[in-house]
Amino acid sequence: MSKFVIQGPQELAGEIAVAGAKNAALAAIPAAFLCGGITTLTNVPRIRDVETMLEIVQKLGANVKKDGHTVTIDPSSTVSHHITPELSGKARSSIMLVGPLLLAFGEVTIGHPGGCIIGRRPIDQFLEGFRALGVKVEDTDEGYKFSASNLKGATYFFPFVSVTATETLMMTAARIAGVTILKNAACEPEVKDLAQYLNRCGAKIEGAGTNTIYIEGVNKLSAGKWEMIPDRLETGMFAVLSAATRSRLRVTNCNPEHVESLLTIFDRMGINYAKGNDWILIEPSKKAYKSPGKVITHEYPGFATDLQPPLTVLLTQAEGLTLVHETIFEGRLFYVDLLNRMGASIILCDPHRALVQGPTNLRGKKIESPDIRAGIAMVIAGLIASGETTLDNIYQIERGYENLDARLAALGAKIERVS
Ligand code: EPZ
Repeated sequence: MSKFVIQGPQELAGEIAVAGAKNAALAAIPAAFLCGGITTLTNVPRIRDVETMLEIVQKLGANVKKDGHTVTIDPSSTVSHHITPELSGKARSSIMLVGPLLLAFGEVTIGHPGGCIIGRRPIDQFLEGFRALGVKVEDTDEGYKFSASNLKGATYFFPFVSVTATETLMMTAARIAGVTILKNAACEPEVKDLAQYLNRCGAKIEGAGTNTIYIEGVNKLSAGKWEMIPDRLETGMFAVLSAATRSRLRVTNCNPEHVESLLTIFDRMGINYAKGNDWILIEPSKKAYKSPGKVITHEYPGFATDLQPPLTVLLTQAEGLTLVHETIFEGRLFYVDLLNRMGASIILCDPHRALVQGPTNLRGKKIESPDIRAGIAMVIAGLIASGETTLDNIYQIERGYENLDARLAALGAKIERVS
């Protein structure tokens, strides 16, 4: 297994361009199966989660071509509508293929989808939503069987917000006769961008990006070209990394509006920054960062749960006591034990709440990367800790961040990838 060896503390300098959004690409790949013709995706991050989804659709028979950050998908050669447990176990986002394949084949079987260790990741919302659209859902030994018995538009109220369930039901309803209204829908930028693309292909979707989405089904969509939006989670992570290492970094090719909730936390911490329409410049200062008091993760536009681990590392450098309240996942705070091993002073009150006392000096350690976002948090910790940090299991980090060591080394980071 490969690992990162990081020397700290290390101030960085320069400019970092943000990659295309992982979670936009993971929704765009299933959307290709809704449309006739060849879909061209650009600004696609070449990261493991995306490669895994492309592998899955190739195994189903679709023709996939990759050329750098451009991916074309021709679903016309798709022959299988059975997503084996081996495939679905690799990527939770495989569940997003169910709707499009159901429309194409009338029937889909899938093993129970896998996912991060950040929580149970159930799919009950998908199952209930599909049933509301007239899909017959049956349990099988390996997972589920979906049959298109009498698909029809319907109104579905999400009991709680789910990003990929919103994307899946929205893209499925786009090709089901009748009107579908999705209530208490996710408002993430990736949902809005998916709707805008589908509308360019001939769909009739209104309200995406708000919590009520109106969809009038059409029976044909024509594939087109779709550029992935900047990854707001990379944007936020690099901004946090810049502040944590007290570096002057310019984060480019980004959309500052998508990380407004983080920037309001920076304001409360006394972190200086400037921003334009596609860049953020973090201005380091020697003055102590103040604790923002309380940080609560929330669906968009609230503070993103995927930015909680990186921010918590920054909070170990802020003066005062901060309550971090992770409201979305029940397994996304356990990495704080690793930070405590490095010298942080964090009390894990329960699976959802941690108290961070700062500032504390961090020391380099040998640690593991538990999941994508906790993994990148440990990279940031290694860059501010004194001494050497060895980070194992960087497969997790490479699921979400392209070419990370080379990109950080170009900013002056002492980070080495060791097989
Ligand atoms: C998406 O996951 C993202 N993944 C996640 O990013 C992100 O953390 C999450 O949204 C929240 O913003 C993609 O877009 C591919 P949810 P998703 O359904 O859709 C519960 C990353 O690191 N729930 O919004 O799977 C669920 O357990 C990943 O990039 C059900 O109970 O998340 C969670 O507690 C991690 N039943 C809450 O809802 C369901 O059927 C929100 O999950 C679905 C979800």
